[in-house]
Amino acid sequence: MKGIVLAGGSGTRLHPMTLVASKQLLPVYDKPMVYYPLCTLMLAGICDILLISTPADLPQFRRLLGDGERLGIRISYAEQPRPDGIAQAFLIGRDWINGEPCALILGDNLIHAENLSALLCDVGSRPYGATVFAYQVRHPERYGVVSFDAGGRAVEIVEKPTTPKSNWAVTGLYFYDARVTDLAAAIRPSLRGELEITDLNRLYLEDGSLTVEKLSRGCAWLDAGTPNSLLQAASFVQTIQARTGMLIGCPEEVAFRMGYIDAARLHREGEKLGKTELGRVLVELAEGRLT
Ligand code: TTP
Repeated sequence: MKGIVLAGGSGTRLHPMTLVASKQLLPVYDKPMVYYPLCTLMLAGICDILLISTPADLPQFRRLLGDGERLGIRISYAEQPRPDGIAQAFLIGRDWINGEPCALILGDNLIHAENLSALLCDVGSRPYGATVFAYQVRHPERYGVVSFDAGGRAVEIVEKPTTPKSNWAVTGLYFYDARVTDLAAAIRPSLRGELEITDLNRLYLEDGSLTVEKLSRGCAWLDAGTPNSLLQAASFVQTIQARTGMLIGCPEEVAFRMGYIDAARLHREGEKLGKTELGRVLVELAEGRLT
């Protein structure tokens, strides 16, 4: 399975911070925001990743992440000239996807849960259909909202409904089978002029091949698109890391734990981070002083 990190958009809710800097390169505590969704794909066992961003911001992502070789993965890049919608990622990535199943994660989404890797690897191994994740939120009207029948089956998905039928929001992590590029090509722009990911998900729902995984309360899902949620995401990462001594959203650590790189490579990556706490933890992990 392949994976796309969609890191374009205009980030207007974070102006003036995003007037000259990409939202997804802003810091979330001790790492650039894009590290978190990148790690989520890597935890799903995905090693072939396409990063899509604006023509202006793409060179910075290249400088930060390179070709992925130091993480034991492959990272390719593509431009989205205008923010014409999330589902456009599959048109931009069509040739790169090359008829394979493909996951997509939004570049400002942070997901943290126990055993996330096992869940995502399981979802990624499903040969047919699509899987999205639903999370209970206080303001469902800001999201794509999924409602369920009495038996718990997903029956409807609506983008930013004025009167939401449930408080289950669809998160920015999606897994699709090999039909995704053809189905995305069939979508037409919505009234706001975007190729809506909700419309793509609805095609799978109507076809009877959409699975909605409900994320439990024990799982954290944050999108860092506003000053408040950016600060909350940073506090969350800081608190968990300080309390548990473990890292969140560190691609070098994930690469090591997933077996993409060995201890010697992890050690070098830790040393490159010099005097940072992040570097210290990576070196300790490489030397077997942390489990
Ligand atoms: P949004 O948060 O909906 O949009 P935005 O990032 O442009 O922010 P704002 O509303 O403050 O102007 O987008 C969700 C994520 O998807 C975000 O990471 C940006 C990304 N995105 C794209 O990369 N391309 C697109 O065409 C759209 C619609 C979103």
